[in-house]
Amino acid sequence: MKEALIADEVRLPIDCDTDIVAARRNGQELAGYCGFPSTDQVVVSTAISELARNIVRYAARGEITLRLVEDGGRRGVEVLAADAGPGILDVALAMHDGFSTSGSLGLGLPGVRRLMDEFEISSEFGKGTTVTARKWIWVSWEPPELDDWLVRFAQARAGRMTPGASPSVLDGG
Ligand SMILES: Nc1ncnc2c1ncn2[C@@H]1O[C@H](COP(=O)(O)OP(=O)(O)O)[C@@H](O)[C@H]1O
Ligand SMILES: [Mg+2]
Repeated sequence: MKEALIADEVRLPIDCDTDIVAARRNGQELAGYCGFPSTDQVVVSTAISELARNIVRYAARGEITLRLVEDGGRRGVEVLAADAGPGILDVALAMHDGFSTSGSLGLGLPGVRRLMDEFEISSEFGKGTTVTARKWIWVSWEPPELDDWLVRFAQARAGRMTPGASPSVLDGG
């Protein structure tokens, strides 16, 4: 997690249940660093776990990329779930509560859309599926140490260009 964070994004291969658990945990951790309160950390990790579960169940394998994003006064976590699986025949239908081709609850995709602030899905039948979801934190929610952490994060990114630079922003370097 630490190395990946310094690279500004964490890319997680997803092809089994333990990958789902790891993605969930990494997402919760990243949301915490971003400054989300613990309830929203759980929201982010729940969304990640639904998307990762869909990858394993329907596409067998794929990748989840987690990013810290910034836009004006707000910061957020971006979750990108991508696979080259069978794709979705009717995306609009798949976004309805209760629609499932696996006899499951069919609440995953519409749930992720409700949980996150932004949601985009693109899927081509036979080619694969990409879901991008973002959750934003407004300035008024920021814990005081967030700015400090972001400065150190930027310094560590600059530092990684230098051989022998401190490898971890999270240890305070
Ligand atoms: N990554 C994916 N690749 C192919 N099909 C998918 C993928 N994710 C979701 N789907 C399709 O969309 C449907 C709805 O997904 P979801 O809302 O998560 O419900 P559930 O997983 O409970 O069926 C799934 O049943 C499946 O047909
Ligand atoms: Mg699902």
